[in-house]
Amino acid sequence: MAFTTEERYRAYADWPADYIDKITQNTKHSPWRTNFHIETPHGLLNDPNGFSYFNGKWTLFYQYFPFGAAHGLKSWVHTESTDLVHFEPTGTMVYPDTPLDSHGAYSGSAMQFGDKLFLFYTGNVRDENWIRHPYQIGALMDTKGEIQKIDHILIDQPDDTTDHFRDPQIFNFKGDYYAIVGGQNLDKKGIIKLYKAVDNDYLNWEYVADLDFANNLTAYMMECPNLVFIDEKPILLYCPQGLDKSVLDYDNIYPNLYKIAQSFDPETAIMVDPSPLQQLDYGFECYATQAFNAPDGRALSVSWLALPDVEYPTDRYDYQGCLSLVKELTLQDGKLYQYPVEAITSLRTDSQIFAPKVATNNCYELELTVEADSKIDLVLFADANKKGLKLSIDPANGQVTLDRKDCGEAFALDFGTERHCQIANQVTIANIFIDKSVFEIFINKGEKVFSGRVFPHQDQTGIAVLAGQVTGNYYSLDYGRKTH
Ligand code: FRU
Repeated sequence: MAFTTEERYRAYADWPADYIDKITQNTKHSPWRTNFHIETPHGLLNDPNGFSYFNGKWTLFYQYFPFGAAHGLKSWVHTESTDLVHFEPTGTMVYPDTPLDSHGAYSGSAMQFGDKLFLFYTGNVRDENWIRHPYQIGALMDTKGEIQKIDHILIDQPDDTTDHFRDPQIFNFKGDYYAIVGGQNLDKKGIIKLYKAVDNDYLNWEYVADLDFANNLTAYMMECPNLVFIDEKPILLYCPQGLDKSVLDYDNIYPNLYKIAQSFDPETAIMVDPSPLQQLDYGFECYATQAFNAPDGRALSVSWLALPDVEYPTDRYDYQGCLSLVKELTLQDGKLYQYPVEAITSLRTDSQIFAPKVATNNCYELELTVEADSKIDLVLFADANKKGLKLSIDPANGQVTLDRKDCGEAFALDFGTERHCQIANQVTIANIFIDKSVFEIFINKGEKVFSGRVFPHQDQTGIAVLAGQVTGNYYSLDYGRKTH
């Protein structure tokens, strides 16, 4: 269903209850509902928001348009977790219901102050000429989940950006609070602005400078910037829309990338000696990754496993999008690793020696080892003719290749059906998480990652081996009761 602008911006209260019932039922009929990835009961999920630790629990929100598979009037849905694997939704918490966020409670971050969680987000407002005013605004959530919105703008649109100015991330650096905000300058180039909380007051922000990270100024907008620190090294994760492919080659409509620097100077906003841009994920879907330094010091991240401006086969079931597993970010030999948190192993119910399978429930983990001088060709979501998601791990030639051309319903064909990355000529381990229509593949415990969606046909439930000696384990995964 194509949504008109009127429908996309219709007030939440004006959607009839029987319409919601109808789309909820339709979503339930989808053959591709996930077991252990967060998705919506109906409507569209996009960016993870407000990922934080609050009141003794992990808090994770997501961007939500409840009324179908479209980007419309956005709100924030809240979920919480004690183990970073099982998340309980508690409901929509931030509605687009004030003069400062009337046209969308857009993405943002969160941090605990006292006994409240401060939500720092973009309020999107359209005036009578449909001109957009992006305001960086705030709300406080108490331990009962009550939201109190702050009634004034915390950071207004600067004179030197267009109306593309959004997605504030608050972070602590050596005891002081800062925020970065993604934007577009008047030459229509993507930039990131750094602000500081005056006297550590999260209601009082002063501009420091545009972040200096050897920005090549080819992208037209930087969405969802995040700065995290691992072993004192700053890592900047962001989504440079329209980045010139001569800077870094990518296949997805918009890339999600990162740079590692040697140090960060908050006075001058300089990231010292930044690395070249690198792919966060080599798969088909991974965007708007949100990362933060948890109180225990770990850098944790979660991604949106879909992309803007792409249609998905689930759209006809009135929903779209899911979140990735929560990943811990580490640096090893100067390289960024991303791997699901340890508690993910609690989903394993049994362990079997790997063998091809005619049928599974498409909900499992494989842990495979591939010798340095060999190559394996594996088909996940395989049908009787061994057609499905083809994964080739080829340390002998230093390549991993993933091809979804023969896996279920085709979509996003404009962006190709194959993805690949380079690996070293050494023994290679692959941990592969399969969840109905989601795959997350971690090479060498997160040195390289391929994430994405496939929408398999009913008979695509097997695992086939086309070539090579496949050794390892198969684990059935059980999430328990699914509430999202
Ligand atoms: C990224 C994004 C953000 C924005 C949000 C709106 O996917 O476009 O920049 O805040 O989604 O839902």
